[in-house]
Amino acid sequence: MCGIVGYIGSKEAQPILLSGLKRLEYRGYDSSGIALILPHNKNIGIRKAPGKISVLEKLVKSKPLCGMVGIAHTRWATHGAPTQVNAHPHSDCGGQIAVVHNGIIENYEALKNQLIKDGHAFRSQTDTEVIVHLIEKFYKGIPLEEAVSLALKLLIGSFAIGVVAVNEPNKLVGARRGSPLIIGVGQGENFLASDVPAILGFTKEVVFLDENEIVVLDKNNFKISNLDGKDVFKTTTHINWDIDQAEKAGFDHFMLKEINEQPKILESLINSRIQKQTGKICFQEQNIPEAKLKEIKNIFIVACGTAYHAGMVAKYVLESLCQVPTQIDVSSEFRYRDLLIGPETLVIAISQSGETADTLAGIREAKRRNCSIISICNVLGSTLTRESDGVIYIHAGPEIGVASTKAYTAQLTALYLFAFYLAQVKGIISGTKINKLLTELSKVPGYQSQILKQQQKIAVLARKHSHLGSFLYLGRNVNYPSALEGALKLKEISYIPAEGYAAGEMKHGPIALIDEYRAVVCIAPESKVYEKMISNIQEIRSRKGKIIAIATVGDQEVKKLTREIIYVPRIEEIFSPLLVVLPLQLMAYHIAVKRGCDVDQPRNLAKSVTVE
Ligand code: AGP
Repeated sequence: MCGIVGYIGSKEAQPILLSGLKRLEYRGYDSSGIALILPHNKNIGIRKAPGKISVLEKLVKSKPLCGMVGIAHTRWATHGAPTQVNAHPHSDCGGQIAVVHNGIIENYEALKNQLIKDGHAFRSQTDTEVIVHLIEKFYKGIPLEEAVSLALKLLIGSFAIGVVAVNEPNKLVGARRGSPLIIGVGQGENFLASDVPAILGFTKEVVFLDENEIVVLDKNNFKISNLDGKDVFKTTTHINWDIDQAEKAGFDHFMLKEINEQPKILESLINSRIQKQTGKICFQEQNIPEAKLKEIKNIFIVACGTAYHAGMVAKYVLESLCQVPTQIDVSSEFRYRDLLIGPETLVIAISQSGETADTLAGIREAKRRNCSIISICNVLGSTLTRESDGVIYIHAGPEIGVASTKAYTAQLTALYLFAFYLAQVKGIISGTKINKLLTELSKVPGYQSQILKQQQKIAVLARKHSHLGSFLYLGRNVNYPSALEGALKLKEISYIPAEGYAAGEMKHGPIALIDEYRAVVCIAPESKVYEKMISNIQEIRSRKGKIIAIATVGDQEVKKLTREIIYVPRIEEIFSPLLVVLPLQLMAYHIAVKRGCDVDQPRNLAKSVTVE
């Protein structure tokens, strides 16, 4: 996913834009660029290059740009290879307008053909370039923002854009549809960005643009309207993250920092959801009336990747505690299914970023069927949260590492709390039972801290197995999703083929894989399916599989079967996914580091998949 930064103020824009791009590096990119209005010669200066931002920095060092209005971009190639000519910003034929763009223009070929017929000269293979030539086409005697609106109305697809023009040097224009864009409100300066970290070092006051909204900024004001020119009034939101939260805080990688933040995040999340006076569970932003929740006949969970695994755990919890039939689907399947859902369905959308294209498309489908929608999300004001009926923020702080860790356990915790809340609303379980569950859940942060004290031991075990060519992860019941999550963590940052499986499926195929060249991670905490897991481990042992077990402290059985054991504290089975995942996260991390992989920005991956 690409990154956008824009600046208009009284300071030199170049260093501000470059520092903003660096804070967006985690989103993944393969080229970057910057464009400034050059006041002295009434022109636009553009510098752009494939590769990391350090390449762009060298370029601007050798050929600096001076100006106080500009836009910048990190590009993740979708149309056209990551080359200098395809990097953003893109300019019009006359070099008087510059545009940066996140998203995909689905009808760009037809538009490009028509523009070429109209005499426009294209330089790149990108879809983005049609935008700047369309603006050029309309920008005749009307304000820039009107020309931009006319151009955007012709686009099919998604966009977040930043635009500057020589003719109106004291103006910065931004607009969005299907891709996030925020305004940073400063003192005598204003910013555009695709995500909060880019501007957090300059201001904590932000405004979130909604679908089909356009903003005109000068250094002291901003004006938002829809694409038909109708004014839209918005207040600013104060971001309570500090810039250092978006830094590594002394850890080697964001991922390791975020793994270690989990106890603190879960503790504050649990405490913030329990009303001190009554002990009842409360969700400030959950706006679905309790009467409506009482009528819910079924639940459908929609998510991708790690969020999907959190949803799989939630299915066990919701059906067990709330006795509501719960289905789950990956968003990319849900959105194209012939859905049997309606007003009696509660759709729970889980998304760390709140910008995942398939999940957004899924809830829009659900909305068309008059379902109630609750989103479990980490990013304040993200698109998903503004299109849901209710929101449960997980308040995990910025998750920079592409591999999701703290967001996963925070999503799980929010889902446990929501299940207690729903059971409370539906009168399924008593207050005493809820208190018992809350007491058990409240032990999790402390237990996680105990597990994190084993990091060195886990690192040694991980490095010892880092040469193996493939891994199999096995779990049962509420830890079957834990097996899938463990496999995803490993494969996405170490590039080792890894598969998660329901352990009960072993005889239906996977047991053929077992030999001494493969590690099998067996998730076997104390549970009603523990004996079954032991049987699986015995089957693997007899075939010389390399067994790594996650077991409960004090387990005497497992140590007869393998020496490679990571122990987790004893907890009620339903909560064990919150514990067993930490060793899985740390194993993946240390194996990837041992293999020299780019842990925070793994190849081919972006932090948020905002396109299909
Ligand atoms: C998880 O480690 C991956 N980065 C990826 O699967 C991610 O969980 C998925 O893309 C969903 O993202 P979201 O939670 O922002 O919607």
